[in-house]
Amino acid sequence: MRKKIVAGNWKMNTDFKGGLKLASEVMNMVNDEVMDDIQVVLIPPFTHLFGIGQLIKGNKKVSLGAQNCAAHISGAYTGEVSAEMIRSVGADYVIVGHSERRHLFKEDNSVVEEKVKLALSYSLIPIFCCGESLDERNNGRHFQIINSQLEEALFELEKDELLKVVIAYEPVWAIGTGKTASPYQAQEMHHFIRTTIKEKYGEDLANTIPILYGGSCNAKNAKELFANADVDGGLIGGASLKSRDFTDIVKSF
Ligand code: PGA
Repeated sequence: MRKKIVAGNWKMNTDFKGGLKLASEVMNMVNDEVMDDIQVVLIPPFTHLFGIGQLIKGNKKVSLGAQNCAAHISGAYTGEVSAEMIRSVGADYVIVGHSERRHLFKEDNSVVEEKVKLALSYSLIPIFCCGESLDERNNGRHFQIINSQLEEALFELEKDELLKVVIAYEPVWAIGTGKTASPYQAQEMHHFIRTTIKEKYGEDLANTIPILYGGSCNAKNAKELFANADVDGGLIGGASLKSRDFTDIVKSF
């Protein structure tokens, strides 16, 4: 049985007070309404991590994650936040290689690879994002792009390291656009990712690793996306900012 995960990526939204309110609403709803076998991850901005970590401390259903980490251990990197720091405030997860980081902050596969390794070395679970642009899909290059993102940023890992990673397939054209991938497109790519992992690392690992879908996933379309054999949950942006919508997504399995 693979872990089912729904993670809320708040991006650069909410002030601290608003973040605490959102987190406590989600926590209360999840505690009352959600089955034990689903892991919920709240991924607020860095400034909120400690406070929200305190709020959810000891809660088995709700965990904490960060949106990014530095590609260096420590030192003179003004403005950066390290994997060790993130771990030290109680986070269990960190998003790595989100398309906004790749495109707006020019992070390439080698930077993403570095971050994955650092996250793992500080016992954080990397949520490794991959996804193609609209042009790449229209030109029929989507499988090739995902394959190279996996090859170049993930496939240097040993088996026991990859075992700890969560993958999120997030087509760039679907993020924040309201254009969700169809259930068919999501399943097709998730299956491709799983098969690619199987060829390199074997069936057991491929069948264990959770693959989440992200990109305009909401309370209306989550059910038909999560119903697919290779879709193990979601990485939710916009719809994670409203506690009711987010909790309804969590209940969509
Ligand atoms: P979205 O964002 O749900 O707002 O499309 C998803 C993400 O970027 O993780």
